[in-house]
Amino acid sequence: MVRPRRAVERLKPYRPPREGRGGKLRLDFNENTVGCPAGVIRALRRALNPDALSRYPEYEDSKNVLAKFFNVAEDELLLANGTDDAIKMICDTFVNPGDHLVVPAPTFPVYEFFHSVAGGRTTQVRYDEKFHLSAKRLLAAVTKRTRWIAIASPNNPTGTTLAKSDLRALLKGAPDTIILVDEAYQDFSGETVLPWIRKYPNLVVTRTFSKAFGLAALRLGCILTNAALAEPMRRSQNPFAVNSLALAGALEAIQHTDSVARYVEEVRANRAEFCRYLDSIGIPYVPSRSNFVLTRVGPKAPEIALRLREQKILVRDWSYDPRLKGYLRFTIGTTVQMRRLLKGLAKFQSMLESQNGSHAWKNFVTYSSTGWFS
Ligand SMILES: Cc1ncc(COP(=O)(O)O)c(C=O)c1O
Repeated sequence: MVRPRRAVERLKPYRPPREGRGGKLRLDFNENTVGCPAGVIRALRRALNPDALSRYPEYEDSKNVLAKFFNVAEDELLLANGTDDAIKMICDTFVNPGDHLVVPAPTFPVYEFFHSVAGGRTTQVRYDEKFHLSAKRLLAAVTKRTRWIAIASPNNPTGTTLAKSDLRALLKGAPDTIILVDEAYQDFSGETVLPWIRKYPNLVVTRTFSKAFGLAALRLGCILTNAALAEPMRRSQNPFAVNSLALAGALEAIQHTDSVARYVEEVRANRAEFCRYLDSIGIPYVPSRSNFVLTRVGPKAPEIALRLREQKILVRDWSYDPRLKGYLRFTIGTTVQMRRLLKGLAKFQSMLESQNGSHAWKNFVTYSSTGWFS
């Protein structure tokens, strides 16, 4: 039998989202819950013709437009098949077997996944009991073999951002290490370090059209970094990783930033409203800068997620992470969608483990001192 590489033999299988999500209230994967602007659908219809579909994708014009949109030079931009592919490109270009990656924990699992495929080892630096993380603790985990540190800001599943002063400390404190700042949810936080790519030679920023823009199915992500780091990634890249329809969709989507901004505003307002509701019933949560909120509902979390699913409301149960047993993550949607969620939740209020009356649990979550995580 032909055996795969040792790194692949050691891999734990990746857990993709469950299927059959269409038509349900999708509050489980932090997608746009209303769909992309209608103009994007019209642009895709125009792009669906035999001439266009029979040609290999052409990138130059689209890259020009996208570089202008992100306010970078063309040689500072790389197109990828979603952020996932951008992460793989970083590993393909910079990671040798045995190299190290430093990540916060919990975080988006795909950094560790592709790093493991490349044969690398990952060091996790856990958030403290109030879900804070400092550059100092991340830097303490850096070794001579650390090739990159991956920071999602806002982070998934916590919704927290790393303070700019901490990011600056990381960039300066590990000058020979790539610092990836994954800005998938940047539209919701309004914070970016993109202009810093000219200032710090080790900074790589990624953006995606999967979240606020509502194009997760098309798969378009962008790597933004200085030309010197971009060049080897371009050389080792899959030459046709991005398809023509993804480009047609994205180029139209950036013409509709007003409607995307209105959606983002509604989500932000509903996030605040949802947190007020959680306060009122004594459910701890992590204050979020993104389009989702991580809550601790107690040991019945898996059952609550199942019961909501029966009502066609999907939420993400994080209990598979031993340190996040009892946690549900709710994507924030429109006012109408959130009303439906609250109505659904009201049916199971007795299953939620309220911390009312205990000030220690108000407004923050601790995940180290509960009975469930010993
Ligand atoms: C932090 C973070 N980055 C990236 C992604 C995936 O982005 P893309 O669809 O562009 O691959 C996700 C998806 O959930 C995410 O949470």
